[in-house]
Amino acid sequence: MTDLKTCSTGPMIELSEVIFSWNFDTVVLNLDRLRIFPGERVFIAGPSGSGKTTLLNLIAGIITPQKGTVSVSGEILNRFTGTQRDLFRADHIGFIFQMFNLVPYLSVVENVTLSCSFSKKRRDRAISRSGSIKAEADRLLKNLGMNGTMGAGQPVTRLSVGQQQRVAAARALIGEPDIIIADEPTSALDMDHRKTFLELLFKECKRKQGTIVFVSHDTSLETMFDRTIELNAINRIDR
Ligand SMILES: Nc1ncnc2c1ncn2[C@@H]1O[C@H](COP(=O)(O)OP(=O)(O)O)[C@@H](O)[C@H]1O
Ligand SMILES: [Mg+2]
Repeated sequence: MTDLKTCSTGPMIELSEVIFSWNFDTVVLNLDRLRIFPGERVFIAGPSGSGKTTLLNLIAGIITPQKGTVSVSGEILNRFTGTQRDLFRADHIGFIFQMFNLVPYLSVVENVTLSCSFSKKRRDRAISRSGSIKAEADRLLKNLGMNGTMGAGQPVTRLSVGQQQRVAAARALIGEPDIIIADEPTSALDMDHRKTFLELLFKECKRKQGTIVFVSHDTSLETMFDRTIELNAINRIDR
């Protein structure tokens, strides 16, 4: 696999002639072409049920299309085996899930450092940034506004929704992946906290000029992004 840094001229993400259905009779996504370039911060908008989460899962190689290709930095993910896609994702993509998907039996810091267990690249980058994986987890949690009363050794089950969101963001950011994918991570927050959270996320991605693909149905956030993609406008399915 090529190092993503060497491929800065082409699109970071490219979907071409993609057709995806969860069950064979109903097509959820039918996309001609979708391109996202390195360092772009893209807002994906669309009503509930329009296929936003499905699209993010395709980009992350969690699922593969029935037709067409999904490329990340020139690598065609749907030609990889499932294991290769898992490794590729661990190295290059930080995913903030809609429901956060924190591991309930792990502590705050163990949840954050989890990404480094699956990727040597991210482990090495975290260590070179802060001296140790734990120190980098602490730095991210602090910068993302985790308050000091909630210790890094606490179980995540005791966290508020806002705190869980910060842990999920730190887990995605650790080891500076090339792409951050975020699926409605701000939906549980009020407007002030949504904007603050996004600013912190952008700040952390800036050093590496990471590509951000952010999904929300809250269009008031879209002015913070370089570009908006209206999913319904590019999805060629009959509704
Ligand atoms: N795991 C799944 N199995 C079957 N159908 C699914 C699954 N996930 C989503 N869908 C269906 O795919 C469509 C798009 O869903 P989704 O991508 O979650 O939309 P959004 O994120 O925009 O709300 C919906 O009709 C939904 O019911
Ligand atoms: Mg969704």
